[in-house]
Amino acid sequence: MSSIDYEALAAEARQMFESAADEHELESARVAWIGRKGRITLLLRQIPDLPADERPIAGGTLNALKGELAACLEERLRNLSADESETGADFDITHPGRTPFIGRLHPLTTTLNEIIDVFREMGFDVAEGPEVESEYYNFEALNIPEHHPARGMWDTFWTESPPGMVLRTHTSPVQIRTMEHQEPPVRIIVPGRCYRSDTPDSTHSPVFHQVEGLYVDEGVSMAMLRGALDTFAHRLFGEEVPTRFRPSYFPFTEPSAELDIGCFQCSGKGCRLCKGTGWIEILGAGMVNPDLYGFVGYDPEKVTGYAFGMGVERIAMLRYGIDDIRLFYENDLRFLEQF
Ligand code: DAH
Repeated sequence: MSSIDYEALAAEARQMFESAADEHELESARVAWIGRKGRITLLLRQIPDLPADERPIAGGTLNALKGELAACLEERLRNLSADESETGADFDITHPGRTPFIGRLHPLTTTLNEIIDVFREMGFDVAEGPEVESEYYNFEALNIPEHHPARGMWDTFWTESPPGMVLRTHTSPVQIRTMEHQEPPVRIIVPGRCYRSDTPDSTHSPVFHQVEGLYVDEGVSMAMLRGALDTFAHRLFGEEVPTRFRPSYFPFTEPSAELDIGCFQCSGKGCRLCKGTGWIEILGAGMVNPDLYGFVGYDPEKVTGYAFGMGVERIAMLRYGIDDIRLFYENDLRFLEQF
């Protein structure tokens, strides 16, 4: 065995592994060299018969070669299968396809999209504004001066740096922002995220969504507001659902109203959902308070307008019969997969 030329042996083995054209030939090379009866394996087995001083050299050289050939085998196998998938050789077009998991829209997104669709069809454009808002836009220019008791209607998060900014409590500030840089007619809806320092419970969340509406032009009337909101209510809750305006108060509208729909659960007879009244409140609205025009440079003698604001969560809860607002944000797939 000492007469063995290790160099020639290694060259022969490498050559066979490297020239293998496919997995079959590679397997033959493996069997011939490093398989149970392969040439290297047999030589290793004969080491104990060698003269003592030759054993370490033979062992070291043969084991190194065996390791090299095993690595070479693996690399060639990897290359061969990459080549195959490139040429499509392992692609079986008769195999059934794998359906990709696409997910679905969140119920709040679906509801928001529907609300936007209805108003877009009526000619409203979508406008947006910042979530971190100045006190001026969130309150003052909406006719809610400091210390005005109406500020208490909105529990507000204030920023520390810079101080005096708020996380907007409603999307109404975008009314002012839009009128500031656009002459009438203005006809917008404003979807967006809002914040209030409310403790979460089944109907309150510190983060929620609103859609605001504003239409200002010459001759805009309350009857037009009623008509637009009826169209909206009928589209989302069904053609048959009755609606009513109930007097209310908002500093930025005068007169103000709340829109109710007839309770679809008890058809007006009175149940837990409508708290026995037969009616469910769905949004706030009114004629734009002329004081606001002073802040944006519109002539209150020339233009009139209407505005409305609704909570997207509330609309979605009513539409889908969801009784806890927190379900929207918990990302529990058992909930989300129902939509
Ligand atoms: N901004 C009001 C709120 O968050 C909702 C609202 C009421 C908006 C009446 C309006 C409106 O534009 O006319 O409670």
